[in-house]
Amino acid sequence: MNICVVGLQWGDEGKGKVVDLLSESADLVVRYSGGANAGHTVVRGEGEEKFALHLLPSGILREKVLCVIANGVVLDAEVLLEEIAQLAERGIRVGKNLRISGRAHLVMDYHKLQDRLSETALGAAKIGTTIRGIGPCYADKVLRTTALRVEDLLDLDNLKVKLDRIVEYKNKVFAALYPGSEAVDAEQLFRKCRLWADALGEMIVDTTELLHQAWGQKKSILFEGAQGTLLDLDHGTFPYVTSSNSSAVGLSAATGLPGRAVDRFIGVAKAYSTRVGSGPFPTEQDNEIGQYIRDRGHEYGTTTGRPRRCGWFDTVSVGYSIAIGGVDQIVLQHLDTLSGLEELKICTGYKHGSRKLDFFPPGVAVLAEVECEYETLNGFDEDISGAQTFDELPGAARDYVLRLEEILSRPINMIGIGPQRSQILRR
Ligand code: IMP
Repeated sequence: MNICVVGLQWGDEGKGKVVDLLSESADLVVRYSGGANAGHTVVRGEGEEKFALHLLPSGILREKVLCVIANGVVLDAEVLLEEIAQLAERGIRVGKNLRISGRAHLVMDYHKLQDRLSETALGAAKIGTTIRGIGPCYADKVLRTTALRVEDLLDLDNLKVKLDRIVEYKNKVFAALYPGSEAVDAEQLFRKCRLWADALGEMIVDTTELLHQAWGQKKSILFEGAQGTLLDLDHGTFPYVTSSNSSAVGLSAATGLPGRAVDRFIGVAKAYSTRVGSGPFPTEQDNEIGQYIRDRGHEYGTTTGRPRRCGWFDTVSVGYSIAIGGVDQIVLQHLDTLSGLEELKICTGYKHGSRKLDFFPPGVAVLAEVECEYETLNGFDEDISGAQTFDELPGAARDYVLRLEEILSRPINMIGIGPQRSQILRR
């Protein structure tokens, strides 16, 4: 059975934990989009062994799983090597269990510099990126002539020629657009590439071939989405999105496998909504309710540490994400975070002026102006983090889940009640 796990909101839904759990019965775990902008926190065992992963697929904590970084990813080799070193310090070896696509693109220091310079110059119009160089790297991929792929590390002489040309171009662009900005040093970058080639060379393969073989052999493949559907470059809240197809629609282009290679799409959502960075957020609670959720849910970015914007669950946007991704079932995370709120609101519809919208709107101008229609349910006070079954949850918590299930017309069969592997209820 091949499964794809995608986020139904603006990222940070807790996909890492779901992938970690499902990877128990997977042969391969595949990361297919985004880069070091993602942050997956996985807590292992009943203790506090916490792992913050950015590029490594969450399956890396399981010995028998083969992890794949597919072609759709933009690879910051420096971050990857740091992550590998940190795992090694804790006794987890990464070697033959990781395969990286030669078709993936390399995130270089000048991408991060460009990201920072561009965001700073934009001022109030900025996207609020993670400054990890993601947009500039994908932009170079599309431009082609200024791109470096992971496979370039396998031919350093040729890479040097390309790199010199690209750096010359970048320095001209940066000097013109951002006078006074630091110059990029091609020699220094080349030295880094040499180190990356030494450390990662043996892991670089044609992952498209590898995945087709695995599919042909009926191995079980788990695809790990990064970010969320509403941050998808084409289908999200453009331009306040990331630069890849972070929804399930991106899977084919980003792996080389046809859509029908996936048997089941699992959508992950929090029991409320969060968003980091700029852009409209209809159910945002920029008030004490949002602060309550932020504090209880530790809603601060894994990658940047930024406080996340928090709000009520939005069935319009999540319903849209379910439709876009062909989602079969839902995992609802962080239900425990809502404990202590007197009432729980669910957004059930949008109105724009006097018009009721039937579908999530494509433009941010309309989205910024929509008025949410809410249904109000009773809150619950109990600490639910120790519950063993769905039936043990307080009535109001169960009602909340059942009402979401009814509105979204998909089964919610996993419910997160805490960060540990065991704190997930199945029904
Ligand atoms: P970028 O991906 O760094 O270019 O950032 C673009 C937008 O996506 C910004 O609003 C980021 O906050 C958001 N973003 C990128 N990665 C994540 C993530 O893993 N979780 C939540 N938001 C993200």
